[in-house]
Amino acid sequence: MSEAEAAVWNRLEALEKRTLRELFAADPARVDTLSSHLAIPGGAILFDWSKTHLDADHLAAFEDLAEAAGFGGKRDALLSGEIVNVSEGRAAEHTAQRGFGSSDSVAVAAALHARMHMLVDAIHSGALGEVEHLIHIGIGGSALGPALALDALTREDGALVDVHVVSNIDGCALEVAMDCCDPATTLIAVASKTFTTTETMTNAMSALAWLREGGVDDPYGRVIALTASPDKAVEWGVDETRVLPFQESVGGRYSLWSSIGFPVALALGWEGFSEMLEGAAAFDQHFADTDGRANLALRAAFADQYYAHLRGCQTRACFAYDERLALLPSYLQQLEMESNGKSVTADGAPVSGPTAPITWGGVGTDAQHAVFQLLHQGTNLVPVDFIAAIRAGDMLDPAHHRILLMNCFAQGAALMAGRPSDDGARAYPGDRPSATILLDDVTPASFGALIAFHEHRTFANAVLMGINPFDQFGVELGKEIAKSIEQGGVAFDPSTAALLKAAGL
Ligand code: F6P
Repeated sequence: MSEAEAAVWNRLEALEKRTLRELFAADPARVDTLSSHLAIPGGAILFDWSKTHLDADHLAAFEDLAEAAGFGGKRDALLSGEIVNVSEGRAAEHTAQRGFGSSDSVAVAAALHARMHMLVDAIHSGALGEVEHLIHIGIGGSALGPALALDALTREDGALVDVHVVSNIDGCALEVAMDCCDPATTLIAVASKTFTTTETMTNAMSALAWLREGGVDDPYGRVIALTASPDKAVEWGVDETRVLPFQESVGGRYSLWSSIGFPVALALGWEGFSEMLEGAAAFDQHFADTDGRANLALRAAFADQYYAHLRGCQTRACFAYDERLALLPSYLQQLEMESNGKSVTADGAPVSGPTAPITWGGVGTDAQHAVFQLLHQGTNLVPVDFIAAIRAGDMLDPAHHRILLMNCFAQGAALMAGRPSDDGARAYPGDRPSATILLDDVTPASFGALIAFHEHRTFANAVLMGINPFDQFGVELGKEIAKSIEQGGVAFDPSTAALLKAAGL
């Protein structure tokens, strides 16, 4: 950490810690200052950070921290396709998929999208025969984004093709999908940036066997590869015409916008997929053009840094008060924990403070009846994000959605206000922070903007901590050890050896 950054942290530590009640009393315009609408195609999103402990002094100090950390230059580097993933020597070009990047990368992304568009339209028009189902096989970033987007965006109007996302190596996962599909009318998408991931390649082989046993003469003819390693896909047996490549510079957990989003485009139609890209681009534009506290991703990162560093919060929770976004917490877990769960800075030095908090969460109101006890009365302070939509996703009695939204807002109010009692068991300490993101509706555009907000928030946090959010070396050791178990002849610690023996491995 530079001297300038350390000086800002000292300043932040010295600031008075006022309660939320005191902050609202001292500044009646607080809601106006800390909540803003972002216009997106067809609507708007309200980002309300007023129930956090950020005040004018914190905001000013964090703006200085951002400047000392070189935020403006690093943002420009990201958005212009410079090498920001320094440990792997490459750019991070997810925004190029949405039109923000070097002109070369934006052109390549557009050409690859055009190729995907043609295949999507060809499938819809019957060029690959009757297609009723798609089994999308991938894991991590090659599955979580598509699964979330499909769940969020196909509930109301249905899907043009019935898609099942399979990730786990546990055969039970693939069996569930196969049970829902007819081999004669099923395509298989093999989604893997590297085209080497054990889980994906094993599931893909089993899916091919299932097609063959189901009477499909040429199972490889039913496969579409979504990958940054097209040569490997061709070598594996996929015809080049059904390989949809994406750029190596697009990270796995940032890849929904590339050909990894193929199942979303197939299910929604190309127009829906384009709208998702446009929504993300609206957030990119805001992120590129807006400085300091007005930048919504940076403002959120200020609060994230405040709670991690100054209040010792080890976790942050996200509760979607919308069944359509039920998978959002799982998606954010990979995005935030795989990006920022690091112990060294971008130049390899040990970090001087906490990095990514543990991201967790669930869906409201279910979570209220399960985990909210701890949020209200536990000894851990957990900053919470609430995410809801004004328009209901269901056609039932509007009472459902009204009660859902009332509960969402009530929880934020209760966490903040608390309620004293002489009976400790019944006392609510209050002063517990939350932020609320309120969409007009869950549409492809609002969904795209919501995800882009989280991507840029993750990046802004990384800049403030000085770390590289685009590598993930921490996932490799376990994979290597699993391989060495398979190969045999390796001596393990007594506990692991006993487990292997007990399982007959
Ligand atoms: O092991 C972690 C990881 O590399 C993630 O970063 C990635 O999203 C996932 O595995 C899947 O990788 P691939 O798309 O190469 O199969």
